[in-house]
Amino acid sequence: MTFYDKLIENNKNWVQNKLNIDADYFKKLAEGQSPPVLWIGCADSRVPANQIIGAQPGEVFVQRNIANMVIHTDMNMLSVLDYAVNALKVKHVIVCGHYGCGGVKAAMQNKSIGLIDNWLRHIKDVYRHHKAELDAIENETERFNRFVELNVVEQVFDLAKTSIVQNAWKNNQDLQLHGWVYGLDSGLIKDLQVNISNDSELDKVYQLNF
Ligand code: CO
Repeated sequence: MTFYDKLIENNKNWVQNKLNIDADYFKKLAEGQSPPVLWIGCADSRVPANQIIGAQPGEVFVQRNIANMVIHTDMNMLSVLDYAVNALKVKHVIVCGHYGCGGVKAAMQNKSIGLIDNWLRHIKDVYRHHKAELDAIENETERFNRFVELNVVEQVFDLAKTSIVQNAWKNNQDLQLHGWVYGLDSGLIKDLQVNISNDSELDKVYQLNF
């Protein structure tokens, strides 16, 4: 039996396990959601948002794309962010990257991969902003790891620059942004301590008045 062939059966078993613990489990979930967290992570199959932080269905609103990017022309990301902040009123937005990220690795190199080259361009821009620091790291793995971290920090600031987040702050909404990096080989998360909860850390040109 292939992995695919087992999926529906796995689902039935999962439902049964949940119902054994709480017969109303799905009935309650169907009533609505109020997750306190929006997760913006990499699409990588090894970084499943809920599992690595022990979260249950209903607890994390999730957006995933290649290399956990926050690109302000990405309607998907903006729509998820807008709904999470303005409708669900999440209190935390976590950008979680991961060491060994294929997207970040590809952005460090020059080989054309196809359409994705255009997505990776945004990561190359991050490299350019931090070129002095990154070029000074001789060990390639260490440089790659640092690039992963700097990319996460940049995405957190890009979140802060959005009109959605700044509008929430102007309305005194409790909204904190965070940057994390997950270790594929340890399962552990490193908090980069880039916690932003107002626009004062943004360059003046990005601060919006409403
Ligand atoms: Co990745």
